[in-house]
Amino acid sequence: MCGIVGIIGREPVASRLIEALKRLEYRGYDSAGVATLEEGHLARRRAEGKLRNLEARLNEQPLHGFVGIGHTRWATHGRPTENNAHPHATERLAVVHNGIIENFRELRDELTGRGHRFVSETDTEVVAHLVTDEMDKGKAPIAAVAAALPRLKGAFALAFVFNGAPDILIAARQGAPLAIGYGEGEMFLGSDALALAPFTDTITYLEDGDWAILSREGVEFRDAEGLVVERAKQKTQASAFLVDKGNHRHFMAKEIHEQPEVVGRTLAHYLDMSSGCVRLPFEMPFDAASLSRVTISACGTAYYAGLIGKYWIERFGRIPVEIDFASEFRYREAPLDAAGLMIVVSQSGETADTLASLRYAKSQGQKVLSVVNVPTSTIARESDAVALTLAGPEIGVASTKAFTCQLSVLACLAIAIGRARGVLSAEREQELVSQLIGVPGLMAEAIKREASIEQISYGLSKAKDVLYLGRGTSFPLALEGALKLKEISYIHAEGYAAGELKHGPIALIDESMPVIVIAPHDAVIEKTVSNMQEVAARGGRIILIGDDRTAAESAIDFHGHISMPPMPPDFAPIVYAVPAQMLAYHTAVAMGKDVDQPRNLAKSVTVE
Ligand code: G6P
Repeated sequence: MCGIVGIIGREPVASRLIEALKRLEYRGYDSAGVATLEEGHLARRRAEGKLRNLEARLNEQPLHGFVGIGHTRWATHGRPTENNAHPHATERLAVVHNGIIENFRELRDELTGRGHRFVSETDTEVVAHLVTDEMDKGKAPIAAVAAALPRLKGAFALAFVFNGAPDILIAARQGAPLAIGYGEGEMFLGSDALALAPFTDTITYLEDGDWAILSREGVEFRDAEGLVVERAKQKTQASAFLVDKGNHRHFMAKEIHEQPEVVGRTLAHYLDMSSGCVRLPFEMPFDAASLSRVTISACGTAYYAGLIGKYWIERFGRIPVEIDFASEFRYREAPLDAAGLMIVVSQSGETADTLASLRYAKSQGQKVLSVVNVPTSTIARESDAVALTLAGPEIGVASTKAFTCQLSVLACLAIAIGRARGVLSAEREQELVSQLIGVPGLMAEAIKREASIEQISYGLSKAKDVLYLGRGTSFPLALEGALKLKEISYIHAEGYAAGELKHGPIALIDESMPVIVIAPHDAVIEKTVSNMQEVAARGGRIILIGDDRTAAESAIDFHGHISMPPMPPDFAPIVYAVPAQMLAYHTAVAMGKDVDQPRNLAKSVTVE
């Protein structure tokens, strides 16, 4: 979740380290820091809070070294103070780290016993001292790192720079992503290819257990046994331009507005518009005739996309689907049979728990299909088949366009599974595909409701608690709507299955509680209307996201109504996601919150 970078070059590196860190800030923004070698001697600048604070520090006290490392932090061990900010250093070296060193306490006790003095609350500092300890025994940097790495337990991507050694940088990877970039007489390292895109389009991804010795002329790769190994170079498509906000105030607003386009692009990748059929651009990694069940594993917003996918795969594919949070699934020792299919869903393709689910499924002999947005990610690379979402880079920490693209892909997969298993007729497929083709246009219509959504959001921004209700595929969307609101406005919000209301949450309803009901005109609309009546009878303030027909038929005096265009119900969640996202966005903006970088969160969660 933290981001790390390193450059060994022929000119000062500090400004380029900052440029790369800006592209990694989505991974965390609790603090930032850089270290370079100034005439052979280590010098550091660190600052609490966002990267701009570090930039201000560097303006006052510039660094001029030609070799350096940088870090942007999402705090795990130790508060987000300057003292806990990376790089962590000893008199011999400085190190930056993404991940968690699980055995840091025992290592720290051992090293303290040998006279090392620790000054931060982090797990990372132990790495600095462990390597220093080896150097104190007389080892050179490479030998010292080789001796220290096998002692570290947990997940890490590390980069080291050494006092008095201006000609090397050392990097290591175990369970957290790390890319090496190639330049002309200079070399780079970074947590992802996006960070390195301004400097190079040629990279190598380290494999788990690998470490690398970078010089200006190139790189030598070693595996976990310390043997020199070859690792393939590849060209990246990450854009060198830092994606900008266009005419929008925030990335989140831009990404919400981009959805008709990126969902259209994603659907076009999976649909044959002329024949009205689904055409997957990859081989399904299972035998349709013997497919026994589908298991879905994901985290956060991607999990809610998976939950909606479960409804669709069961409905159109007539196959049982089990879904779990990846953090639960990975330790639950679920029995998986080889005829089953595992689907993992992840925007970044790097989420540690989701990756662990994938590896568990593979260890049980299952094939894994991933729905990912980053084609070069670890999850994409380790999957048997990859269904790409073509959302483009998503910068806002609260996921929006990746979610609706994930839904679009899952809808196509559900249809493809149904057809492959012979349980979905060609006519029904054509009907569903024509509905999907209409989705981007309906999303554009939904976006036009922004002014009324903004007005409703103003009232919502005064609430302390908000309830979201929905039935069927609107239930996972209610969960996602509540998640969006809490992550960026910090208002407590809960999503509930509308039918469960009477089993507890109805006790919360009073005049001060906004209840947002997601109610497309679907097969269960009458049931949802009854649940709205139950809320209205208790004085609850209902905000309806639904069409005019539902509003008229229910004859409820709504506190607010986001009037949605009429649409066939099957894929309504893709369209109804738009007002749910906009409600959260405008509420947070009305409250003056940092929408793109909400407190305590990060976009890519590579720790457990
Ligand atoms: C973090 C992000 C969420 C995201 C989740 C899963 O919590 O803040 O927006 O949904 O991770 O991320 P992934 O990259 O696997 O989709």
